[in-house]
Amino acid sequence: MKIASKYFKKIAFLLLLMPLLLGACHNTNDRKERVIGLSQHTMGDQWRKAMVRDMQAAVSNYDDLRLEIRDAENDPQKQVAQIRELINQDVDVLVVSPIDSVAVIDVVEEARRKGIPTIITDRKINTEEYTTFIGGDNYEIGRKAGKAAAPYAERDTLQVAEIWGLASSTPAQERHRGFADELRELGITVITDSIQGSWRQDSTLLHLPELKHPERYRVVYSHNDVMAMATADYLRNVRAGADSSLFVIGVDAVPEAGLEAVADGRIDLSFLYPTAGEEIVRLSDELLNGDSIPRQIELPTVGIDKASAQNMLSLYERLQAYQNNLLLKKERNDLLLSRFRFLENSLTVILLLCLVLIALSLYIWRINKQVRIQNHALQEKNRIEEEQSRKLSQLNREIEEATAAKLRFFTNLSHEIRTPLTLVMAPLRKLLQETQNTPYYKELALMERNARRLLSEVNRMLDFRKIEEGAEVLECEEVAVELLMQELKSYFDGLATLNAIHYTFSFGTEGGDSAEQNPTPPVRIDPHKMENVVRNLLSNAFKFTPRGGTISFDVRQTPSQLEIRIADTGSGIPAEMQQQVFERFYSAGKSHTGSGIGLYLVGKYVALHGGTVRVESEPDRFTRFIVTIPLPVSCGTDRSQSVAETMPDAADGYQLTPEKGEMLTQLLATKQAYSVLIVEDDPEIRNYLYENLGESFTVHQASNVDEAMRVLDKTAVSLVLSDVMMSGENGFELCERIKQDVNYAHIPVILLTALSMEEQQLYGFAVGADGYITKPFSVAYVKMRIIRLLQEKQKERERLMARFEQGERVVAEAPPGVDDQFLARLYEILEEVYTDSHYNVERLSDRMGMSRGHLYRKVKEITGLSPVEFLRMFRLKKARRLLQETHSHVSEVAYATGFSSPAYFSKCYKNAFGTTPSGD
Ligand code: FRU
Repeated sequence: MKIASKYFKKIAFLLLLMPLLLGACHNTNDRKERVIGLSQHTMGDQWRKAMVRDMQAAVSNYDDLRLEIRDAENDPQKQVAQIRELINQDVDVLVVSPIDSVAVIDVVEEARRKGIPTIITDRKINTEEYTTFIGGDNYEIGRKAGKAAAPYAERDTLQVAEIWGLASSTPAQERHRGFADELRELGITVITDSIQGSWRQDSTLLHLPELKHPERYRVVYSHNDVMAMATADYLRNVRAGADSSLFVIGVDAVPEAGLEAVADGRIDLSFLYPTAGEEIVRLSDELLNGDSIPRQIELPTVGIDKASAQNMLSLYERLQAYQNNLLLKKERNDLLLSRFRFLENSLTVILLLCLVLIALSLYIWRINKQVRIQNHALQEKNRIEEEQSRKLSQLNREIEEATAAKLRFFTNLSHEIRTPLTLVMAPLRKLLQETQNTPYYKELALMERNARRLLSEVNRMLDFRKIEEGAEVLECEEVAVELLMQELKSYFDGLATLNAIHYTFSFGTEGGDSAEQNPTPPVRIDPHKMENVVRNLLSNAFKFTPRGGTISFDVRQTPSQLEIRIADTGSGIPAEMQQQVFERFYSAGKSHTGSGIGLYLVGKYVALHGGTVRVESEPDRFTRFIVTIPLPVSCGTDRSQSVAETMPDAADGYQLTPEKGEMLTQLLATKQAYSVLIVEDDPEIRNYLYENLGESFTVHQASNVDEAMRVLDKTAVSLVLSDVMMSGENGFELCERIKQDVNYAHIPVILLTALSMEEQQLYGFAVGADGYITKPFSVAYVKMRIIRLLQEKQKERERLMARFEQGERVVAEAPPGVDDQFLARLYEILEEVYTDSHYNVERLSDRMGMSRGHLYRKVKEITGLSPVEFLRMFRLKKARRLLQETHSHVSEVAYATGFSSPAYFSKCYKNAFGTTPSGD
């Protein structure tokens, strides 16, 4: 992240820099522009327009020159202001074409002071503070005009009308002077009539009437063509053809004005007055290049007569076309140039972008490289971590597997212990009952107590397994806590006396009242798990408290919580171990023996109740366990809903009333008319059961499933009592085989096993088991279960029979049980065949698909009658109904119901119903 942001900063910087780089690039392409500022005092005539055109044409030859033009519109003040504007714009060269010789003096000097090169053109000014002057040689024009006018002198006298340009401007002054000088030198006297035309047509037209002798003039000398044309028109009109020898001289010979006038004869002679436009631009360039240039440049001039004017005009037209062509080409060039510039700029931009791209690529490449390196490092780190966690989880798995294997081992071991314990406890209890008033009773009671303790240890192992598998749930009941706690307390009274321990118990309620006055309400908790908690804590206390020590057991019940405190003055638990005591396999030091699961179970059972348990201890002083259960406890399953039928244990506190005990003894002492098949692979248990159950039933035995099936095949069995865990096929499989075989499906099966897991019991029921008894068991209980089950079966059958007896056709609605279907089928066949006196049991067993033996046992088991008797009874009941409903003759009824002789029918009828068929 850090590196990425560093690079992002660099890239952003580069991107910011880009416009600057592009700008720089653009500037290197464009050389600095140079500006020529032109101040024209007017643009109102063709000569001035030609001058500007010439300058523009010249400027266009330079890439870096630009012309900035100001038109003062013949206003001297405006011209001054405009020149100042150009100065302020920092033009590189200032060109002034002044209106007269004085108006702009100050501002031109100002430009000079500011170091701006200044070119004065056409008209001179009365100051030396400019860089150079350039213009036509006006004096020479005057002289040439004089020379051309001379031939029109008559007797050395020449009558001239002189039309002046602005008298304050130098071209007017010089043109006059040259003219006068030339004629004087030629010895001609000049009689001049002059007016002020001020270079303009309007002004000339205004002053023309001032000419005193229009008819006398032989020559009109006008300082420019504009004024010459106006004067010529005027005079020719005024003189009205009187004398045509008027020679008109003008100046400028500019196309679209004077040149056309010369060509068409309105003016006789003109002088090409150079605009100097091209030269001004060249001079400007030289000035800006630092070249030295002359202070004054006066350009030569030529006279233009009609012929040369016409030539010039045609040349001009061609020139014009050529110029237009050039202009078009220039425009095209400009366009191409601008495209080129654009491409050039684009190329530069593209190149720059490429550069940026390359730079970016380099950065990205570097970032990538670094990221790759970091990724690689990260991957390596991850790989190592994964490897470590893989190893760890492998280790964990191995540990889990080892733990599970140990657990399995201990569980199996516990089951193994429980089986012989059954064999020890059951006869012990029997002996205890029989030796109540003998000297052996005490020893036997001790043995029984210790066997029970052993059993509770084993159960604890199994509880542990259940907790570990997450299979443990609360089985709550309404419990009178005080009574339960008192009883639990009493279990350790003997031990307290034996070890001379001061052992106290107290039970308190919210207000501290005695429970006798105000009985505390029962609380819904799991009494067995709570017993487990208290027993573990108490036995722990007794284990670690030396002789003469103190153990206190205090219970406090309030509506919102139950608190149990068990404190001892034993060896105590070091502070650093106090957190671990509730962990699995914790054992308080090497010197202490124990499974290390007692406190673990305490923690788990308390947590199941939603409570907490904590320990306070000081080594060699005291240890105090405090269990807090918030009330009410949210209970999962209700004990009363449990499907398991476990043997009630004396330790659970269930005691028979004397009356019930008596009833039970009597029932068990009576030999029942049932036969029971015991299936058990352990010979000792099998024998034990065989002997004990033999007191009440006819018993058969088998040590495995196959043997059991053989017994069933041969013998009539009322009930099968089978162990689940057997070598070879197990009890579940036997149960399944019995329940799926129509020959035996009626026989109830009770599974007898050490397994007490709920799901295994459920599995037993799923395969059709009728009952389930877990070891250790008492024989009396087993007997009771057998008797009750068989009695219930008997009642069920009687109910079913009764329905058939009433003649109900129950085939279609027969319940799905194998026996019910068997009976339904039997009745169906009998309905069909009872009228046939030859129909016998062989045919019936064929039709039912059973051997005669099986049919016999099945029918006998279900109906209490042999198949022959049952068939006979069926016929007799049909006959009785016929007799009652039809008043038929006895012999008819006898034959109709399948009896071969009426006499035999009557005999059987009397035996069955106590009366003869005829009602005697
Ligand atoms: C144009 C003009 C020309 C003349 C020149 C003298 O404005 O009047 O006709 O030759 O100026 O400055």
